[in-house]
Amino acid sequence: MKFYKPLSTVILMSGLVFALPLKAEIVNLSTPSTSLVLDAEKGGPFRFLYYGDKISASDIANLASAGTANRDAYPVYGNYPQGEAALSVTHPDGNMTLDMEVADIKTSANEADGSTVTTVSMRDKSYPISLDINYRTWPEEDVIETWVDITNNGKGTVTLNRFMSGYLPVRYGDVWLSSLYGSWANEGRLNQEPLRHGVKMIKNKDGVRNSHTSHAEIMLSLDGKPMENTGRTIGAALCYSGNYKLFIDTDDSNYHHLFAGINEENSAYNLKKGETFSTPALALTFSDEGLSGASRNFHRWGRNHRLANGNELRKILLNSWEGVYFDINEEGMAQMMKDIASMGGELFVMDDGWFGDKYYRDNDSASLGDWTVDTRKLPHGIQGLVDEAEKNGIKFGIWIEPEMTNSRSRLYEEHPEYIIKAENRDIVEGRGGTQLVLDLANPKVQDLVFNVVDTLMTKYPLIDYIKWDANAPIMQHGSQYLTRDNQSHLYIDYHKGFEKVLDRIRAKYPDVTIQACASGGGRANWGVLPWFDEFWVSDNTDALQRVYMQWGTSYFFPAVAMASHISAAPNHQTFRTIPLKYRTDVAMSGRLGMEIQPKNMTDEEKDFCRRAINTYKEIRPTVQQGDIYRLLSPYDNLGAASLMYVSPRKDDAVYYWWKTETFVNQQLPRVKMAGLDPDKTYTVTELNRIDNTPLPYEGKSFTGRFLMDNGLEMPLDHNVDYHKRNDYASRILRLKAN
Ligand code: DGJ
Repeated sequence: MKFYKPLSTVILMSGLVFALPLKAEIVNLSTPSTSLVLDAEKGGPFRFLYYGDKISASDIANLASAGTANRDAYPVYGNYPQGEAALSVTHPDGNMTLDMEVADIKTSANEADGSTVTTVSMRDKSYPISLDINYRTWPEEDVIETWVDITNNGKGTVTLNRFMSGYLPVRYGDVWLSSLYGSWANEGRLNQEPLRHGVKMIKNKDGVRNSHTSHAEIMLSLDGKPMENTGRTIGAALCYSGNYKLFIDTDDSNYHHLFAGINEENSAYNLKKGETFSTPALALTFSDEGLSGASRNFHRWGRNHRLANGNELRKILLNSWEGVYFDINEEGMAQMMKDIASMGGELFVMDDGWFGDKYYRDNDSASLGDWTVDTRKLPHGIQGLVDEAEKNGIKFGIWIEPEMTNSRSRLYEEHPEYIIKAENRDIVEGRGGTQLVLDLANPKVQDLVFNVVDTLMTKYPLIDYIKWDANAPIMQHGSQYLTRDNQSHLYIDYHKGFEKVLDRIRAKYPDVTIQACASGGGRANWGVLPWFDEFWVSDNTDALQRVYMQWGTSYFFPAVAMASHISAAPNHQTFRTIPLKYRTDVAMSGRLGMEIQPKNMTDEEKDFCRRAINTYKEIRPTVQQGDIYRLLSPYDNLGAASLMYVSPRKDDAVYYWWKTETFVNQQLPRVKMAGLDPDKTYTVTELNRIDNTPLPYEGKSFTGRFLMDNGLEMPLDHNVDYHKRNDYASRILRLKAN
């Protein structure tokens, strides 16, 4: 909806007087519960007025008088250079200023997916450079994506020094930032802090992966300390797989200024005559139902529009890594397939170690790039394994790491020019002392990487799942393909090349399930997920630490995308011994799988897993496609953590409760549920029960209202025989509407 209205003529900000146009063209980008209001009067500046709860047409008409942000919607560097800018360039003549005006506004609706794209076109008043600032609204999900196309219409080369995807002013106040930080094997840690004066920056410079440490997604709680189910919350997710930068500048104005985009450091981009540079999208959401509300919007948007096959249920799998590591052989694979099939699993994935003919992949120091089966280990090749899986009634999946090679490989020996390397420098090697990154900026390398998948899929069309790993960062800045004057394109062109390869793969193989793994959780981002069905949350499978990691990760990503596996005890990363019940109860809150050697499990353990897998099949639609309500945060250190998933019709829910510490006679909070229909009555059934006696409320019914106002009491521990007692307790309850 657009309409014209007069605005007041001047406002005072930070001591500077800004003239406002007498007329405004209001662009109202609304979704069912939110409004983004902009002013794009042709020939005038492009102004941001409001983002938040949906407001009425009459409120929009009076917005300016109420006091609104009224800042540039996409600040550029040049005039008034004191503030931060989203875009900064150097023109061919050395001029470093931009002075933009609105040229046009266009709207186009996409009937197929229900989205609408509004484009505000801007042109520089004196230089041949133009911007299309795009907003795609998703009406079902309350998400708005924004991105910018920058076009050089002149003859010379324009250098882009900074090129953010989006900018959002947020009214100064008791605003809290929730963001994720971490490290390898400790990904997705939640950090919550109030925004203070100065700059808070979150960034990545890995080059290949971008989510081991901080994440390119944040939430802002506008009403003080973040609450899960109440409070106005803005979510922002940069949809990019490479180096990013998100920063919030709290300056002397009345605003916190959020900028998000590609990290421009060492990445100046030369835009030649006629070329357009498109930034990745920044997805924004707003909810007045707290952090969980913003998560639900992101999850729905992701499943419906961004995640590969997002509305489909994922298979329950066994992955071979923690079971056998590099010790792959035909007999071992057959045994694992038989075991997972006997427990009700649906898919077996053979991890690292299956390939290499000149050099053998017996450890991590050789053979990446030589994707030929090692017939010493697998005399009947991949086909033998595919057949074996079929015999067991399950599907077969395989591990690859196609962006990489080792200096000990045929590929490197034949094509040393394919790797990322600076001129006049020795190669820098990573994992295993020999790992090298292939230069995806090079179209020949793009073909090579595409062919890794294409060859496997053509030869073995029954491959159902690919685990796509990436275990090295860019270790030295240099492309042997890019010209000398375009070396600064490497970080960006790597990811453009990556996307081109993925486009080709998905065009040909839309149905194969592909996991984004990158030394664990290095690729949990909305940049890769259009081509990937899921990601490996972390190489750390310790159930207790996973409670924390999966909690954080769930802020932005739905359970259907979060691979979560039952592994051995003691755990291989923390060496902590956690009972199978707890390990299973945690894994069942994501996309359930196993990462274990089943032959080391007792019959009783296998039996427990068989029942759990069966149960998971029943709750899978609610877990993988339902709405998340986080209830009790492990980060609040209250001794337990709890969350639940509710089906879209609110007729089914799965409630999880995990104790996070144990003390005798400790006092734990009683957890109120959320997301249920207050007027429906739900019958409670405990899942994965190990207690000798049922919970007192087993089989009983309660109204949604009662469960949300009071919750149910969780016993401190399990009522099991003495020799089975331990210091862990967890519960999963199913709530079915009568
Ligand atoms: C790192 C991954 O995160 C692991 O799951 C495993 O696939 C190894 N690489 C294999 O080398």
